[in-house]
Amino acid sequence: MIMPNGGGVHLPPFFELSAFQTIDSTNVEARRLAELGLPEGQIVWALKQESGVGRRGRQWSSPEGNLYCSVLLRPDCDATQGAKLSFLIAVALHDAIAEFLSSSVQMALKWPNDILIEGRKTAGILLESKSNSHNKLDWLVVGTGINVANYPKVTEGLPAISLKEAGALVKLDELLKAYCLNLEKLYTLWKRDGFDPIRSLWLERATGIGSEVTVRLPKDSFRGVFKNLDESGALVLTMKDGSTKLVTAGEVFFSHTE
Ligand code: BTN
Repeated sequence: MIMPNGGGVHLPPFFELSAFQTIDSTNVEARRLAELGLPEGQIVWALKQESGVGRRGRQWSSPEGNLYCSVLLRPDCDATQGAKLSFLIAVALHDAIAEFLSSSVQMALKWPNDILIEGRKTAGILLESKSNSHNKLDWLVVGTGINVANYPKVTEGLPAISLKEAGALVKLDELLKAYCLNLEKLYTLWKRDGFDPIRSLWLERATGIGSEVTVRLPKDSFRGVFKNLDESGALVLTMKDGSTKLVTAGEVFFSHTE
């Protein structure tokens, strides 16, 4: 059911809000708007999702009390370049959440795009896109879920936390607005200067640089020292024999979050 008047939220003019009480998935609705040909800046917000989707086809627990939204973007680039927008979104989410947390609470970003509070996952990002016949992105939908009041009891890989448990009293519309303001600012920077400044902002907020990490792939697992994020968005690891390995997929575990 749609909320009249966008739930009374005022977002920057770039955004066109559709607000729902309940929806199957905000990503599904944003994809539908994309296919209808609507311009970028459409944002779908729901108080509750019946079929929230996470990365790798996992279910995303979506009870009332958390923030679920998806933004439609139409960046002028190919899918490989567009995929790096997940780092921009991670920075935007990080900075929006930080506005509501005490500075004594530790926040960090974890490759590729998890947002951690005290080493526990507080938000997730799901990018979906479609390219046209010229290999350019037709649309890109960025879905974000933030654990505001609740978090799933069982998670794969990482323990979870809510902003409430971290001591933040947040109204969903205020958090949505803070996220949108950051997103628009960073997207304008991206359009002007490309990925490089976003990469620097992500690295400033990243956890574990210089630490040993374990990377788990479906059929392989290896350890190395997390050195950098390269210009393609890959994690740069230094291996025991001194060689460099670029990681473009897989799950990363740090000793302090395992
Ligand atoms: C992850 O697995 O870390 C990504 C989770 C993304 C969940 C959000 S909630 C809003 C949007 N709608 C969905 O169905 N999924 C994304």
